[in-house]
Amino acid sequence: MQGRRRLLLLGARRPELVDQPPKGLDIEKEKEEDEVDGYHIPKDSNIVLCPYVTHRHPDFWPNPEGFDPDRFTPERAAGLHRMAYFPFSGGPRKCIGNAFAMMQMPIILAMVTQQFRVNLVPGEKAVPEPAISLRPRDPLMMTLERV
Ligand code: HEM
Repeated sequence: MQGRRRLLLLGARRPELVDQPPKGLDIEKEKEEDEVDGYHIPKDSNIVLCPYVTHRHPDFWPNPEGFDPDRFTPERAAGLHRMAYFPFSGGPRKCIGNAFAMMQMPIILAMVTQQFRVNLVPGEKAVPEPAISLRPRDPLMMTLERV
């Protein structure tokens, strides 16, 4: 596939790049007393949002654990709840690098995959380390094969 066309296709699928987002937790402070879904939220409560859980919640996502590049096609994304997917958080403290990250990731991916086929060394396993950010616990050994 031609590089430019491949980049455009990657762009069309870009939300998939943060399908397993690095962010594990968002913590927000409630300024006013509130009620959410019948639960009383006292003023000054710390509210913990967990994208890891929401991004895998079967109420929002069919096949939540699967790798599904078509999850974000315009037709399927149209029916999604506004906050079913929030790798960059939301509201006034939303990530200011959102647009930059979504542009940078497909460009880097396209540049690497134009030149190399990237494979995990057999036996390597990505063990997730859940913290504020989610990342592999150990270094992952990869092989690069020129294409
Ligand atoms: C995939 C990449 C990225 C993800 C998933 C991500 C995610 C997030 C999230 C969830 C927050 C909100 C934190 C909160 O709840 O307070 C945040 C804030 C922020 N991000 Fe990112 N981010 C990414 C890339 C970037 C990049 C590339 C930049 C800068 C070039 C950036 C700059 C910031 C800044 C400055 C804030 C603080 C905004 C504020 O508090 O007003 N981020 N990011």
